[in-house]
Amino acid sequence: KSKGLKDYYNNYFPIGVAVTPNDIRGNEKSLILEHFNSITAENAMKMGPLQPGENKYFWSNADSIVEFGVKNKLKVRGHCLVWHTQTPRWLFKDSAGKTISKEVLLTRIKNHINTVVPRYKGKIYAWDVVNEVIADDTSYFRKSPLYNIAGEDFVEQAFRYAHAADPKAILFYNDYNTETPAKRDKIFKMLKGLLAKGVPIHGVGLQAHWSINNPSREELEKSIEMFSSLGLQIQFTELDISVYTGRQGGQLIAGEKAKEPAVFTPEMEQKQLEKYKMIFDVFRKHKKHITGVTFWNLSDKYTWLDGRGRKNFPLLFDTELKPKKAYYEVIKF
Ligand code: XIL
Repeated sequence: KSKGLKDYYNNYFPIGVAVTPNDIRGNEKSLILEHFNSITAENAMKMGPLQPGENKYFWSNADSIVEFGVKNKLKVRGHCLVWHTQTPRWLFKDSAGKTISKEVLLTRIKNHINTVVPRYKGKIYAWDVVNEVIADDTSYFRKSPLYNIAGEDFVEQAFRYAHAADPKAILFYNDYNTETPAKRDKIFKMLKGLLAKGVPIHGVGLQAHWSINNPSREELEKSIEMFSSLGLQIQFTELDISVYTGRQGGQLIAGEKAKEPAVFTPEMEQKQLEKYKMIFDVFRKHKKHITGVTFWNLSDKYTWLDGRGRKNFPLLFDTELKPKKAYYEVIKF
């Protein structure tokens, strides 16, 4: 049997991938099993997909992903319990359409966590409890509906609820742009404050939606050093290296049209493999603090960065599910 990515990294950390319910049934299944020993549901465990109506749960996608993981002895990460995006329609309003109070919001968050976390006890070993609450601009917390209703408090409470629901689960705070000094400092400050209060938080998830020109080795190492100095374990939870630059790797938003043709040029290929080589070199060097590296999607055939007429090619496997040059750089050490 040929060696997969996970085998090369056996003495380092688990290698994960974000999956859809189709990936684990279709042609992608054998590629997943060959190279990965950890999975995350790309969308199926978010609050909107999971609890589309109050107390009305849609389990089948999440259950099938967890079952696939258990059956194949893969680690399963839970993503995510509290996030301002992909929230269900009903979450912030009462039956009259009025915005709910902080108490009601906290109760709804608690009920969600108390329903979802125990269901997968012993099967999901780690949860992204809170996702993306720090602002990208100069404010401290993101001014999301969660924050506008419940202030900073919901962050602490979510971790407490999750810990009570499964005391053995490893609980993460997860965010992006964590190599940007200003945002990193704010995340650090928040985590330090929570830990000082005894809030049960065990790790920080650095999403790692990167691009061919960021992060630098220096900033990446700085992030690892800073967060691990808090005694937290580190996971890179959503790794992809966009071949474009700019906001979210140049992901297009509604109304934007691609300026570039959808081709993976030799220049992109070269820059991307250098970035992959560098970051895995850093990961290996800091393996003591790193307990997982997860890719956000499996291959360039489908990635969340694609859309509006442009493909992005951010992963280690190409549109035919074959290893790219970057793959060979990552396993060469
Ligand atoms: C993305 C999914 O990949 C997309 O399919 C979905 O439309 C939007 O969410 N940060 C996160 C992930 O924490 O949950 C996001 O996943 C990507 C950014």
